[in-house]
Amino acid sequence: MDKTKEQFEANQALWNQKTEVHRDSDFYKNEAFLAGASSLNDEEVEAIGDVSGKSLLHLQCHFGQDTLSFARMGAHVTGVDLSNKSIDLAKEQAKKIGIDAHFVCCNVLDTRKHLSEQFDIVFTSYGTIGWLPDLKPWAEVVQQSLKPGGMFVIIDFHPMLWSLDDKFEQFGYPYFNRKTIIEDTEGTYADTEAAIGGKSYSWNHSFAELFESLKSQGLTIETFNEYDYSNYNCFPNVKEFAQGKWRFPQHEDRIPYMYLQKWIKPI
Ligand SMILES: C[S@@+](CC[C@H](N)C(=O)[O-])C[C@H]1O[C@@H](n2cnc3c(N)ncnc32)[C@H](O)[C@@H]1O
Repeated sequence: MDKTKEQFEANQALWNQKTEVHRDSDFYKNEAFLAGASSLNDEEVEAIGDVSGKSLLHLQCHFGQDTLSFARMGAHVTGVDLSNKSIDLAKEQAKKIGIDAHFVCCNVLDTRKHLSEQFDIVFTSYGTIGWLPDLKPWAEVVQQSLKPGGMFVIIDFHPMLWSLDDKFEQFGYPYFNRKTIIEDTEGTYADTEAAIGGKSYSWNHSFAELFESLKSQGLTIETFNEYDYSNYNCFPNVKEFAQGKWRFPQHEDRIPYMYLQKWIKPI
């Protein structure tokens, strides 16, 4: 079998295992979500602005909490994810809360085989491009999925963070996309004790690689922010220093944790 196909299949199996654990975890606060709480953070909400009446495509949507949160704000939403269990759960959740949403199970790189529509907004967040070996075909999907004048927003963990070792103390991995990172994982960030695990395949992407991939598709950048905190408690031993904001005590505010970019497809 093609090596990349095998790697995607291993990642899919892993994300399938994670889905139910995540649904039941304190991390994802699913009961609160079902009861009406938004899973979105101020950073992405402010960057995207009013979504009411707009079409929104959420790439790598996991089990759809963010997708459905945008729907609650009035967007017409479509979510795409590789994990069939995540997509099944996303559909179940949509039904439970009475939201009309479209969810598609596929590799993000195959999105255009499943969707011909173009969207006002394409969104992806927190733990996304690291699952892709090459950003060029991904950027092509983003471009092809946007209407002229449409906006693409990515908010994700900073590439510098992924160049730190597993304890996030010193440099441990190449900052650049030099090799496939193969890990034997146990548990998950949302529940480190969960009895799940397996091989994962991921890739680091420098900012230059990200920039070049989207720029070469003709998109223009409008916003680029870096943040000295994480919105999620998904790294070992991070401490909450303000409500919902996390940092490593060993690094505090001296390193970047997240970034946001807003790109526009010219008319
Ligand atoms: C960390 S989650 C996305 C974060 C999301 N904000 C959340 O926590 O709900 C990563 C998602 O990417 C999906 N994924 C990984 N590789 C993918 C691929 N090649 N195509 C589509 N989805 C993929 C996984 O199934 C998983 O649902």
